[in-house]
Amino acid sequence: MTSTSTLKLQAVPVDKEIENLIRSTKGLSVGYSEQDTQHFGPDPDGLPILPESTRKRLTDAGIDISQGYPSRPDKSLIPVFVDEAAAIRDDDYEYVDRAKNVDPEKKALLGAATEVINLTKHIGTEIVGLQLSDLTDQQRDELALLVAERVVVFFRDQKLSPQKQREIGAYWGRVEEHPQASYVNGLPGISVIWLDYFRKSFGLNLTFKNNNARNWDPVKHKVQGTQVWHTDLTHEKRPAGYTHLHLDAIPETGGDTNWASGYAAYDKLSEEFKKFLDGKEAVYVSAHGYLDRKNPFAGPKSIERVHPIIRTHPVTGWKSLFVNRSYTKRILGLSSVESDIILKYLFEVFEKNADIQVRFKWTPSKPGYGTSAIWDNRVSQHSATWDHEGKDARHGTRVTTLGDLPKFDPNSKSQREALGLSLDEKDFY
Ligand SMILES: [Fe+2]
Repeated sequence: MTSTSTLKLQAVPVDKEIENLIRSTKGLSVGYSEQDTQHFGPDPDGLPILPESTRKRLTDAGIDISQGYPSRPDKSLIPVFVDEAAAIRDDDYEYVDRAKNVDPEKKALLGAATEVINLTKHIGTEIVGLQLSDLTDQQRDELALLVAERVVVFFRDQKLSPQKQREIGAYWGRVEEHPQASYVNGLPGISVIWLDYFRKSFGLNLTFKNNNARNWDPVKHKVQGTQVWHTDLTHEKRPAGYTHLHLDAIPETGGDTNWASGYAAYDKLSEEFKKFLDGKEAVYVSAHGYLDRKNPFAGPKSIERVHPIIRTHPVTGWKSLFVNRSYTKRILGLSSVESDIILKYLFEVFEKNADIQVRFKWTPSKPGYGTSAIWDNRVSQHSATWDHEGKDARHGTRVTTLGDLPKFDPNSKSQREALGLSLDEKDFY
């Protein structure tokens, strides 16, 4: 005779049983990281290594770190299955880019700055003499346009609370709240960028020898830090648009970040190869993993989404190469061999062309102050160097505003085409 309890057990679907098991068992996790999955909320283990300048910024902003820092997401709220994770932010809404219909000369913003420095010809501008926290709406709109055109814009010596940073991000659109990332206490959507903490708490095995390994073989080597070239959150239905990293603890030397322009990467290609790539789509995967409900014992799987590999920017109207070594896995319609070879070449166009990159040296400010980089993630890749090897504190907060649904407009132009710059292919063959 079958007992009542057995009958009840049989009535629970296998995926529900697995979900309950994972949520209730210490040490069982769906993600890739080896984290203590029982812990959530403010983490006391972060406090002993919290840099002094970060502590000052947080406490000046009234953020309670008495119980710990940073906050870890509640395990009961982290999706277990890939379909649940993919359903987050899968809704339809109208995205209006704030950079649209603003003064192309950006007089309100640039006229108020004491200095505007283009760091390279093709990418990167530094604005001097303005505090991000004081910008008017008109200046914020013009800043969005400047970022869309110059790809990344920098502001040093900023007094910027995490709350204000979030407010600016929310002004530009919907702020991404990551289901697994650590965040500033009480402020989901302000992700903490702090490799020293990830090394200490998640066992991230980052060394001088391995910190670049994935720049050679993204399949074979596990993610080690952020020195691998990448574009944030390309698996989202609307991948990250305006992205704002504020570093409030900066090494005296080291920890520079590199960005490369997707507009310029596209223009590095031959006109014939551009035609081949225009309109093609690829699969983009998430950094974090979740279980497949139909095959939960196969281990964590990434969320997968399909996007065009050449995107047309909704404001500048310029085409941009939208692939990255970390998260673009295969071009649809090609054999895996063809896709691998082409993607490898396209990744290297970003990584090997120093003339379409900017390397930014962050400079320490007085305690409680920091430096901001705001980039258009739709038209760029970035890579954070780890030459300081964790010996000097480096801590930041990132607010990501999600952008438009990626689109390819066959009638759009490349940046150089639109600006009337040379596309001469002499000596190209
Ligand atoms: Fe990143």
